[in-house]
Amino acid sequence: MINKTALVTGSSSGIGQAITEALLNNGHHVIGLARDHGKFKPRYGNYHPITVDLSDIENTETMVHGLLNEYPDISIFIGNAGYGDFKHLENFSSLQIKNFLITNLVSQIILCRHLITYLKRKGAGDIIFMGSESALAGKKNATLYATAKFGLRGFVQALRDEIRTSGVRVCLINPGLVRTPFFETLNFEPGQYENNAIEPEDVAKIVVEILNTRAGTNIDEINLSPSSQLINFK
Ligand SMILES: NC(=O)c1ccc[n+]([C@@H]2O[C@H](COP(=O)([O-])OP(=O)(O)OC[C@H]3O[C@@H](n4cnc5c(N)ncnc54)[C@H](OP(=O)(O)O)[C@@H]3O)[C@@H](O)[C@H]2O)c1
Repeated sequence: MINKTALVTGSSSGIGQAITEALLNNGHHVIGLARDHGKFKPRYGNYHPITVDLSDIENTETMVHGLLNEYPDISIFIGNAGYGDFKHLENFSSLQIKNFLITNLVSQIILCRHLITYLKRKGAGDIIFMGSESALAGKKNATLYATAKFGLRGFVQALRDEIRTSGVRVCLINPGLVRTPFFETLNFEPGQYENNAIEPEDVAKIVVEILNTRAGTNIDEINLSPSSQLINFK
């Protein structure tokens, strides 16, 4: 297997952490972006954590220029960082709306926009975004979350069409409930039984499968759901 360099947003926790571990175990180099790397400290020489708050566009822009100068050989981008905030629309302030959409949607697009030039030049690469079941159907209390995830889905479809002949593949993964710290700040969580939630390692295995798929085949979109959906309200 060829060892590659991956950029993973939200590598410090949950799904991003599981993907990072899987990529490191497969011998790849991983550059991980998050605000707090104290939560995840893998003992691998090939892990390069970078601290950045993706809600700050200017800092993100500055960081990505430095990053691409230092690691011009990035060939995998996992756009995964994000958080949930679920309530009626009128309970969000304008600042909350702006920060939510910048972190969950705009920052991922900006990073991808900078990286795409490098990937197209190489004529190969993989871009995988973490969508959600909320990219497929809007539900109450999820106005912002669904907006971000529908937005990512539209972005992925349009980008795939735009770069179809470049050799760069673009994929969207849409999980239902995944058992991660995502729910720590929310008033609900997946039920306690093992079939009430996807495990982050399940998503990581799928990412590895996508990356290992023969270059001539593009996996466009994958939907996942727990086999027995149950939500507990706290
Ligand atoms: N869990 C689910 O049920 C589920 C289902 C479908 C889709 N997803 C999606 O999967 C992705 C990962 O979620 P998760 O479940 O793994 O949640 P998580 O455990 O809370 O992880 C979220 C990651 O995003 C990073 N992040 C959040 N805000 C950030 C910011 N402003 N700047 C930089 N990094 C930031 C966090 O790092 P720091 O806190 O260290 O900054 C963390 O590494 C999200 O896009 C989420 O929408 C989750």
